[in-house]
Amino acid sequence: MGVDVRDYIQTRIEGLTEDSQEFYSRVPRQTNDFDTWSALKLILHSATVNMYTTVLAQNDYFNDLYYIDALAGSGVSQYDEENRCFLGSPLIAAKDATVPFKKMFFVEKDPDHAEALERRLEYAFNEKGDKYTEPEQWEVMCRDANKAIPDIITGMWRSFQDDNGLNYLCFIDNQGMDVKWPAIEKLTPTPYGDLLINLPTSQAIGRNVDTYPETVGEFYGCDLDTVEIPDVGMREFMRDLYLDRLADRERPVQVNTRVEADVGSYYYDMIYATRDIEHGNGYEETIKYVRDFIEQVHSGDVDRILDVLDGSQSSLTSYLPEDDEGISEELSEESDDDPGQTALGEF
Ligand SMILES: C[S@@+](CC[C@H](N)C(=O)[O-])C[C@H]1O[C@@H](n2cnc3c(N)ncnc32)[C@H](O)[C@@H]1O
Repeated sequence: MGVDVRDYIQTRIEGLTEDSQEFYSRVPRQTNDFDTWSALKLILHSATVNMYTTVLAQNDYFNDLYYIDALAGSGVSQYDEENRCFLGSPLIAAKDATVPFKKMFFVEKDPDHAEALERRLEYAFNEKGDKYTEPEQWEVMCRDANKAIPDIITGMWRSFQDDNGLNYLCFIDNQGMDVKWPAIEKLTPTPYGDLLINLPTSQAIGRNVDTYPETVGEFYGCDLDTVEIPDVGMREFMRDLYLDRLADRERPVQVNTRVEADVGSYYYDMIYATRDIEHGNGYEETIKYVRDFIEQVHSGDVDRILDVLDGSQSSLTSYLPEDDEGISEELSEESDDDPGQTALGEF
């Protein structure tokens, strides 16, 4: 029996705020910087984790699944004066995983955020085990992600066994140019592993490319003096350059979602990138559908966005893309007893 697309999106949205006050009050005042628009990217993150675990769990080869949250934050984001909150990406990942990860890594360099996150995760796994999928192991690493990522990857491969393939999903929620190219290279020694990357296209990149080309070059892993960057369409060019760099790391299948943080002012791109498999990876259409949904929602004003996030049924319906064939198929495969996907055999 298939899953209704509308229910699927509604579940993702409701999951963003569920029990968030409780998590907030475990460690009051320790929250991430946040605005209403940030919630939109979390809908994408939620769907990605959910579909990644569903599809990969059906694959006989990849027994060891890892989750890496490279810029994990404190676990909760507050978005108004009344302490209304959203859950942060680590808690959403723990909630939306349909099977336990072998290990979840949460990297956060700010000690206060790292400690708050640790306490919130303990609470989730110890007190809310009915809703949160506890991994076999998890670790909050209070470190710079640029140094932690290489160590995580080395450790993962050390535990790799031929008959027990590994795969990972890595979320990199850059605000500035936080995770630089050398770390991305360490992260992608093989085509295995899906990436969800927040590319700060208009702010950190767009504003600095002329004035600090060396810093931007470090983020891209190339000498920008050798690249002809156009004045018109510079931001789109820089986005495409990053996509090309990811394609060079054997992640050529990409779905890019533009999230308008402040319509007409600044935006970022959420890049989903994976390897090329003949019949698709089994959840790309879902990511595309969520992209279309997000891009339609933020064409509305803030009140409409909040309406959608608050669960108003009519608002949700007005933003759901009409063409839902691809996602319906993937969701019905998700809920079939027999996965039977040609794509899966090809991992
Ligand atoms: C936008 S917040 C994370 C939000 C989180 N992904 C979420 O959706 O709930 C970014 C976090 O990254 C941390 N951070 C920034 N640069 C970092 C780095 N190089 N290594 C590790 N953490 C970093 C900041 O301290 C901050 O808590």
